[in-house]
Amino acid sequence: MNIRPFQPADQESVVDLWSRCGLLRPWNDPRKDIARKLRVQPELFLVLEVDGSVAGTVMAGYEGHRGWINYLAVDPDARRRGLGRALMAEAERLLRERGCPKINLQVRRDNHQAIAFYARIGFAEDASVSLGKRLERDD
Ligand SMILES: CC(C)(COP(=O)(O)OP(=O)(O)OC[C@H]1O[C@@H](n2cnc3c(N)ncnc32)[C@H](O)[C@@H]1OP(=O)(O)O)[C@@H](O)C(=O)NCCC(=O)NCCS
Repeated sequence: MNIRPFQPADQESVVDLWSRCGLLRPWNDPRKDIARKLRVQPELFLVLEVDGSVAGTVMAGYEGHRGWINYLAVDPDARRRGLGRALMAEAERLLRERGCPKINLQVRRDNHQAIAFYARIGFAEDASVSLGKRLERDD
């Protein structure tokens, strides 16, 4: 198992992984999301390889106040073996290194698996409403 920054050659494997993990949405073009991330803290976009194949990803970022986590994914065939925990530990290490005091993330309320996972690794629900405003349409 190896965790390293995303490289352009990973793109199609990563999009395929996100598709198999149910992370794609019509309003988010994954290739545009990758291109945007490669312009901002690309070193915080991590890929986990097992036997040379992409088995997981996490896209982290720090804007000077909070760290953010997106696109956390582990191949359905490789789950419950600690890979998600390892990806999050590395993202957390890199965010701490940058002085980040707290991580925020958004998870759909019906994603019970992910909520159970995040609870196991120390995340708790914040008393906040998640608001969003789209600045650029992908579809
Ligand atoms: C969420 C996800 C990344 C977890 O990856 P994983 O590699 O299976 O997680 P781990 O094996 O590292 O699990 C870490 C801990 O969480 C627990 N856990 C993981 N999945 C769980 C589940 N579905 N239900 C209950 N607990 C779970 C594990 O038991 C483990 O606990 P322990 O170490 O105390 O025994 C994976 O299920 C996934 O890719 N889901 C689809 C994509 C997704 O929803 N991403 C999040 C978007 S916000």
